[in-house]
Amino acid sequence: MQNFTYHNPTKLIFGKGQVEELKNEVPKYGKKVLMVYGGGSIKRNGLYDQVKGLLKEIGAQVFELAGVEPNPRLTTARKGIDICKQENIEFILAVGGGSVIDCTKAIAAGAKYDGDVWDFISRKNIASDALPFGTILTLSATGSEMNAGSVITNWETQEKYGWGSAATFPRFSILDPVNTFSVPLDQTIYGIVDMMSHVFEHYFHHVENTPLQDRMCEAVLRTVMETAPKLLVDLENYEYRETIMLNGTMALNGMLNMGYRGDWATHNIEHAVSAVYDIPHAGGLAILFPNWMKYNLDINVGRFKQLAERVFDVNPEGKSDREIALEGIEKLREFWNSIGAPSKLADYEIGDDKLELIAEKTIAFGEFGNFNKLGKEDALAILKASL
Ligand code: NZQ
Ligand code: ZN
Repeated sequence: MQNFTYHNPTKLIFGKGQVEELKNEVPKYGKKVLMVYGGGSIKRNGLYDQVKGLLKEIGAQVFELAGVEPNPRLTTARKGIDICKQENIEFILAVGGGSVIDCTKAIAAGAKYDGDVWDFISRKNIASDALPFGTILTLSATGSEMNAGSVITNWETQEKYGWGSAATFPRFSILDPVNTFSVPLDQTIYGIVDMMSHVFEHYFHHVENTPLQDRMCEAVLRTVMETAPKLLVDLENYEYRETIMLNGTMALNGMLNMGYRGDWATHNIEHAVSAVYDIPHAGGLAILFPNWMKYNLDINVGRFKQLAERVFDVNPEGKSDREIALEGIEKLREFWNSIGAPSKLADYEIGDDKLELIAEKTIAFGEFGNFNKLGKEDALAILKASL
């Protein structure tokens, strides 16, 4: 392992009815609250009224920013920053999925900054301060509820980048599986692909002696793969939603990757794809990840072989390491196909006309990926294999 310091300050409040904890948590930070949410799902499932009622009970003065887009826009974050500055907001409450939470992180950091929040997103500057914020998660996928990362799109320039700092961890996150009952089938599938992809990003590294971390990663993958098929035919099953919810958070809260840094090239390429085509993040990952795996198989066949045997139950008898590894990748593709995830860019009607542009965007900050350093030509090859 490499030396590491693990510090995750987000208080995780998990389970049925835990939204009531808002009454204990919010008053710690102030009375002027900006509530941030998306396109209306929380109004349809009743969570909006519930949260407003609880905030009223504690005498909060509530301002609202509605309409945060999936793949949240810089322009929306700027609107939120303006509200915070004009109204002297003391606390921000994100109620939604990863997009709402990521937008809230940008608002929180931008509210404490004299310059333009794009400086943080484009990595010209690092946020050293942010307004305190909490989250009520409504979609299990990104892990944003318990990490400091945020992904924001500048639609005008077609740029989508991940950023974050020690200042952008939520103070608390309330995770009630019931709040994910209304997530439709397609978004539930995307969430499953995203959390699995986060574990794959961790898994491919060259650091020696990470047996516990490997087993934790494998446990998350196996648990998600056991639960997903049952959940997808029973979307309001509390136990399945609960299992998936905890897995989504564990997949990207820093615990699985203690002592090493994972790859993250596939996320980099996917962000470039969705910057140009605005497709769902995990739709892009489902298409790209098996192709990234095949492209990088020979960098360290042993890692792929281990994954194939331990997670995809590939029988090694009579096969070379490479064959075992390849079979594991095929089994991943089969699994994602079986749950209804996309497998080709053509599934989103994306052809080869903008692949150059997408590949160009993957190198905005230079070479990328840690398992194998990739450049534009590598990105292009993986994109072409994904058509
Ligand atoms: O906007 P509303 O009406 O709320 O609808 C949303 C949206 O249309 C809907 N939804 C959410 N909760 C629901 C619900 N519908 C019914 N019932 C509910 N309970 O689902 C749709 C998608 O929501 P979104 O928040 O966009 O999905 P997700 O959580 O997958 O977030 C995706 C964004 O997160 C970024 C992605 O790039 C993408 O921009 N990521 C953030 C990461 C992080 N901060 O750590 C890491 C990830 O790898 C990822 O890149
Ligand atoms: Zn992701």
